[in-house]
This record gives sequence, C-alpha cells and structure tokens, in this order.
Amino acid sequence: MQLTIDTGAILADLDAIAACSSSPAPGVTRVVYSEADQSARAYLRARCAEAGLELREDGLGNLFARWPGADAGAPAVASGSHIDAIPDSGRFDGTVGVVGALEAIRALRRAGFQPRRPIELLLFTSEEPTRFGVGCLGSRALAGALSPDQLRALRDPDGGTLDELRGAAGFTGPLDQVRLSIGHYAAFVELHIEQGPILENEGVPIGAVRAIAAPAALRAHIRGEGGHAGAVLMLGRRDALLAGAEISLCVERAALDSGSSDTVATTGVFRVEPGAVNAIPSAVTLEIDVRDVAPEPRDRALEAIRGAIVEVCGRRRVQADVELINADPPATCDPGVIEAILAGCGAAGLHHQVMVSRAYHDSLFMARICPTGMIFIPCRGGVSHRPDEYAAPEAIERGVQVLAETLARLSMS
Ligand code: GLV
Ligand code: MN
Ligand code: MN
Repeated sequence: MQLTIDTGAILADLDAIAACSSSPAPGVTRVVYSEADQSARAYLRARCAEAGLELREDGLGNLFARWPGADAGAPAVASGSHIDAIPDSGRFDGTVGVVGALEAIRALRRAGFQPRRPIELLLFTSEEPTRFGVGCLGSRALAGALSPDQLRALRDPDGGTLDELRGAAGFTGPLDQVRLSIGHYAAFVELHIEQGPILENEGVPIGAVRAIAAPAALRAHIRGEGGHAGAVLMLGRRDALLAGAEISLCVERAALDSGSSDTVATTGVFRVEPGAVNAIPSAVTLEIDVRDVAPEPRDRALEAIRGAIVEVCGRRRVQADVELINADPPATCDPGVIEAILAGCGAAGLHHQVMVSRAYHDSLFMARICPTGMIFIPCRGGVSHRPDEYAAPEAIERGVQVLAETLARLSMS
C-alpha cells in the first residue's frame, strides 16, 4: 500500500478550524456549544460528507463519521479527539487528532485500501472542562461514567443547564442513548500532540502511550461577608478571597508534599464576587485540578487539600462547600493496539518511544469500553494550553502516517 499524506489539506483544515474562535489569533477559544464550536463542527461535517463518510450525532453532539468496511456489521475501529479549546489556547490540542484521523481515512481511500472492519472518525464533545467543570464530557458519557441524570444536573458558570445549552446548539437526542456498549468498537486510537517536552528533547518523532495519568478536580465555593472596602475596618473581616488565597497555597503544598514527584495540583479557576475594587470579596469559587500517574499520591493530595479548606475556613470564619467533580483512575493502553502502533511506525520507517500521558484525553474513557492506544507527536517546547502551542507540519504528517498504518492494521484484524 502506497500511502500519501496530504499535509496541505491537514494544514488547511487546521487553519479553517482555528478561525472558528471567540478570541483573537494566534490564541484560540472554542467553548463547547458556543458559536465558534458550532462553526467548527459545520466545517468538519462538510469535510466528512465530502470524504463520503456516513454521519451520526448523539444527544451530546458526539459526532461519528463512518467508512463502512467490507464486513459492515463488524465492530469498527475508531479514531478521533476533541475540537473544543480552553480560553486563549492553541490550535493543535485535540484538533490534530480529529483532522489527522480524517486525513488518515482520506489517505487510505486514495491508496485503494479496503478495510474489513468499518473505520469511524469520532469528534468528542467537550473534552475540556471549561464550560461544565468536568473534563471528557462526551467520552465519559459514551463510556457510561456519567449517567443521564448526572448529565442533566450539570450547569455552566452562568447557570445554564446542559439540556438547555445542548438543545440551543441543536442536539436534542435522548441522553439515555449516548452510552456505548463494551464491544461496540474493536479498538480506538487517538492522535495527539504530546503537550510535554520528552519527544522533542529526545528527537523521537512518535510516542506510543502505554498509560494515562489519573486526573481529579474539586470545586470549593467559599462564602464570607462582603462590605464597603473603605468603611469596614480590618479587624473582624470575613474576606472570602483571603481564605481562597490561603487555600491556593495549600494546593501547591499538597502536591509538593504528596510523596510523589509526579503529583501536580493547580488552582486554575478563582472567581471573585462581587468583583469590585472597593468591595470586600463576599464569595469565591475555586476549581482545583490534581493529578498523578498513580491514584494513591493523587488521593493523598486531595485529602490534604480538603483538610486545608476546613482549617483555613474555620480560622477565617467563612463557609465552604466542597464538591469533588471527578477522581478518575488512570488508564492502561491495550498491548494489541500498542503493537499495531509500533508496527505502523515500522512501516513508516519512524523511531518511537513508549511513554505515559500526563495530560488526560478522551482515550482515558474509551479505554473503559474498548482496546485503546494513543499516538503522540512532538510539540515545540512541550508547550500546550497556550496561544504559542505549535506542532510542525512534518511532525503532524508523521503522526498521521503512523495513524493510517495503525488503522489499516486494526481494521483487518
Ligand atoms: C486536557 O486538556 C487536560 O487538561 O489534560
Ligand atoms: Mn487540552
Ligand atoms: Mn486534548
């Protein structure tokens, strides 16, 4: 099979999707169900239709674009990722895995390859937690890790319910039909930028992921007492922001003291009410992200953070409501899928390294319902979740080539 990857087409797809953004270039902001998300989805639907794929969307907006195989009834091999982008981030995170899977399918078709199993492109809704606080919304629901009732309880920071927001975006299908059964897919492979520096530093073009680290998130809502910044004297204040500030320092300390150098913890959201320079902060909301490759030190850090919240809030006489948003186990990639990826590297004549993903991905949840693997490509400086995120065209081309070779192998199994 003579595979030719059309890198120009991939770059055109990346450009078109990056233009769907609610913040100015080079930054990209594409929050799920926003206008930017809707235009990017419309663009991709058109490209999938052009490629002759059969489209389906579920009630959350997860999109499935199928190339039927010779055995149309056999469980498909799937590949894809997300296109939502956190505020002012880059154009490659997630999107490379979606347009890369599309180009892998187009390249296999051009090469005259006929799969035995169907090959399906997946676009997962809201891998990023920006809007609803929970990451991997679409894949979590596909894997049955979020029930329809839990989905219906989700709200965005403006109070909009998931049901209202998905409905407004045109996704009205039943939530109880989102879940997929174990065995629905024969395998899943996700192409993604590494989001870390290892491949670039070591000059290795392809990473084959063997495990995905265990993420967790907490939300703490702290209520103190507001008041006039000039008229209320310092003694006896119950300033919610100061409690939040102390808690953020404890978050850093909890990661440093977990006993594992792999533990990371970040207070990435800090919303202040009423948010006026001349008002004592009456309430703050903190969203805290805690991870490790192993769940035990991650859980020790989570417990330390919970303890710190109780201590700080008691001492500062403010109220705290703490909600554990998620605490997911790590995922292990499937040896058979890894083997297919390594064979794909061999066919493409590319070196590889077997590695761990510290970032989470939709693969974390796909691994619960089917044999799963991930292909990493280097990104400049290991930078991600920033406007200057960058992956070179040649790096993307190599990743897509290995993905196409991998899908070809898995689809014939
Ligand atoms: C994914 O975006 C992550 O935060 O790991
Ligand atoms: Mn991301
Ligand atoms: Mn991603």
